[in-house]
Amino acid sequence: MYRVLKATQLADRVFQMWVFAPHVAHHAKAGQFLIVRVNESGERIPLTISAVDGDAVRIIFMAVGKTTELLSSLRPGDMIRDIAGPLGRPSEIATYGTCVIIGGGVGIASAPIIAKAAKAAGNYVIGIIGARNSGLLILEDEMRACCDELFVATDDGSKGIHGFAADVLKAEMEKRTIDCVWIIGPAIMMKVTSGVTKKSNIKTFVSLNPIMVDGTGMCGSCRVQVAGRTRFACVDGPEFDAHQVDFDLLMQRGRTYQPEEHEALEHYHEHSCSCKGGI
Ligand SMILES: Cc1cc2nc3c(=O)[nH]c(=O)nc-3n(C[C@H](O)[C@H](O)[C@H](O)COP(=O)(O)OP(=O)(O)OC[C@H]3O[C@@H](n4cnc5c(N)ncnc54)[C@H](O)[C@@H]3O)c2cc1C
Ligand code: FES
Repeated sequence: MYRVLKATQLADRVFQMWVFAPHVAHHAKAGQFLIVRVNESGERIPLTISAVDGDAVRIIFMAVGKTTELLSSLRPGDMIRDIAGPLGRPSEIATYGTCVIIGGGVGIASAPIIAKAAKAAGNYVIGIIGARNSGLLILEDEMRACCDELFVATDDGSKGIHGFAADVLKAEMEKRTIDCVWIIGPAIMMKVTSGVTKKSNIKTFVSLNPIMVDGTGMCGSCRVQVAGRTRFACVDGPEFDAHQVDFDLLMQRGRTYQPEEHEALEHYHEHSCSCKGGI
């Protein structure tokens, strides 16, 4: 059992939680994730390790379905049934030169830990964080503190540059040499943004978010197509060479269980008042 130490809301449906999990905290590296099972009968969901502090790890998640809603209802002192991790391969941190770390929406959760590691490896680090509107922007101060420069963009122009992270990246690529880029966000955003760096052949990593079940390479639910080969995102990734990823297949597979996910959420809403945590 893992105790929730702190729980706060960062934005609309976006929650931050610090959890006591020394076995994860002591070994976690940038780019890795954990698998959470909230209660005995709950499903297992993957969440990025967003930060580490002593014996605690931070997760940041958007409440989009049954399990993330249930997780968002936990308060300090509540217990999480299982946490497995750290899982996946760490980010390929090296001294590249100038690195750009791009976080989109809740994907910003993964950005500071990668930015800090890239900075510690001697890179000049530029951060770009983007969201649909200012209310959905998270971790701006934290990113400002760990990057050499930070750009903020919103789709509706309510904060920072009016436009997408891809537009900011394109503008910066015209001004200077960029050696390496990380993009973490919704699949469509990663597809579009990595298209920008593909033309200039800039080394680019994306962190893929397929459906996962066991997180250890046993079930095959997280399979993705990279460079024409089937790879398991949980053990071969979640980061891959952006220019080799079949994003269309990733998005198509991500929609496979939408009717079941919708049904599970409705069932949770119907029962959550009477038996919170027991579903
Ligand atoms: C390696 C990895 C790291 C992740 N890190 C984070 C994170 O730090 N913060 C965060 O908010 N989310 C993260 N996700 C996505 C997160 O796992 C899903 O949002 C979660 O599983 C949804 O569970 P649910 O039961 O609440 O919703 P469900 O009922 O399972 O799904 C609700 C909606 O979310 C979509 N969805 C389901 N699974 C995923 C998925 N794996 N990726 C994207 N969309 C999904 C469904 O298509 C559906 O529209 C990560 C995914 C992976 C693979
Ligand atoms: S989640 Fe089962 S093989 Fe990757």
